[in-house]
Amino acid sequence: MAQYDVIIIGAGPGGYVSAIRCAQLGLKTAIVEGRETLGGTCLNVGCIPSKALLHATHLLHEAEHNFASMGLKGKAPSVDWDQMKTYKEEVIGQNTGGVEFLMKKNKIDWLKGWASIPAAGQVKVGDETHEAKNIVIASGSVPSALPGVEVDNAKGIVVDSTGALELPKIPKKMVVIGAGVIGLELGSVYARLGTEVTVVEYMDAVCPGMDADVQRSFKRILEKQGLSFIMGAAVKGVEASKTKAKVSYEPKKGGDAQTLEADVVLVATGRKPYSEGLGLDALGVKMTERGQIATDGHWATSVPGIYAIGDVIQGPMLAHKAEDEGMAVAEVIAGKHGHVNYGVIPGVVYTTPEVATVGATEDALKAEGRKIKVGKFMFMGNARAKAVHQAEGGFVKLIADKETDRILGAAIIGPGAGDLIHEICVAMEFGASAEDIALTCHAHPTYSEAVREAALACGDGAIHS
Ligand code: NAI
Repeated sequence: MAQYDVIIIGAGPGGYVSAIRCAQLGLKTAIVEGRETLGGTCLNVGCIPSKALLHATHLLHEAEHNFASMGLKGKAPSVDWDQMKTYKEEVIGQNTGGVEFLMKKNKIDWLKGWASIPAAGQVKVGDETHEAKNIVIASGSVPSALPGVEVDNAKGIVVDSTGALELPKIPKKMVVIGAGVIGLELGSVYARLGTEVTVVEYMDAVCPGMDADVQRSFKRILEKQGLSFIMGAAVKGVEASKTKAKVSYEPKKGGDAQTLEADVVLVATGRKPYSEGLGLDALGVKMTERGQIATDGHWATSVPGIYAIGDVIQGPMLAHKAEDEGMAVAEVIAGKHGHVNYGVIPGVVYTTPEVATVGATEDALKAEGRKIKVGKFMFMGNARAKAVHQAEGGFVKLIADKETDRILGAAIIGPGAGDLIHEICVAMEFGASAEDIALTCHAHPTYSEAVREAALACGDGAIHS
């Protein structure tokens, strides 16, 4: 029986990053993964494949809508869907192979199979039981079920995000249930491929919890790109035949139930923590009311020697949040001081334009009664954004404390938002003021000038608005 300092359960971004940090800190480490490849949901059926499809379809959209005006004449390319899926598979393969290489390089054993924890200090994989001084559960999340809706990815009519990456053909009509990140990213992919996409959302705004200005602008931009929205409507059921599905929904405010027909229905109504089969009940591991593993400030569960990180515990279900926790818990186990600043975790939606946020929203701060300054700069005043047809409707909003000028949050919708947000993240980590960004020279012509302009707008005023 092998003996380890740490066994990590789950090789998604939380688990594999944690394993690498454990190994770097001199701990004898193994990782358990039951999938054929490493990388978890993110690399196999989540972030990475969806970004490959978003990239390919963005180029198609550019060719169809913007090439001619830039003097690039000729027919837009036609879509070879099978080849596009092959490209996506190649991207997945490169990344999962990369993680396998990193495991070998760091001398981390991959225990292939599904783990259970018969007792603290033991991890069972297949018929073998391994000993570990510490166990880190990084088992992630799975799509949550919607009552009255049966997902069958193999049939390809009513699918979740995994099935939506593998549809046998491009549907003519698609209904997306849920205007969250998954619904809008994958809805965008199919809208660009020519599918008539209708998004049904229970709330009155897209991406619940996001900055209200961004929500409005984002929805308008997506509508221009061809997506339709039915807001304030709760989906009550989906009836599927061999080739089609009928979605029934009820307006939140009351009124008659309605139906919509589609070739494919994508259920994107959230994900839930996944810890089935680990034996946590028998071990007495405390859970939260929402089915998450309860942890303390050091990612320790209620059972000594067992830790948990990522989607399976509280907090946003984001790969980078899991990675940060993975590194931090490794440091805790090694006797160091692992820390995650939950106030500075960016969120990004990889549509075109991208949407990115960090810190507190304007509405939340106002509701708390905080005195704030809001600097907003439209990308229409940014020369570079105009040059790439991505200025319309986009902006940077920076929020700072009225008295101290300390940055409290930001929301960006526009080109490169997912990268631009990190300037603000770093500033927040350093406790910077809006003036610190305003006084920093930003290269021209870059999108990042819009961040500086928003910071200037928190002071004496932006220059180009
Ligand atoms: P979500 O929680 O972001 O959005 C689900 C939406 O479905 C909500 O707006 C909700 O109001 C709506 N909804 C729920 N039940 C409904 C019903 N019966 N009828 C109509 N609407 C209904 O969940 P999503 O998009 O599935 O994403 C799951 C998780 O994965 C999230 O935590 C997300 O942050 C993460 N994720 C992050 C990505 C990124 O960072 N780019 C990409 C993909 C997923």
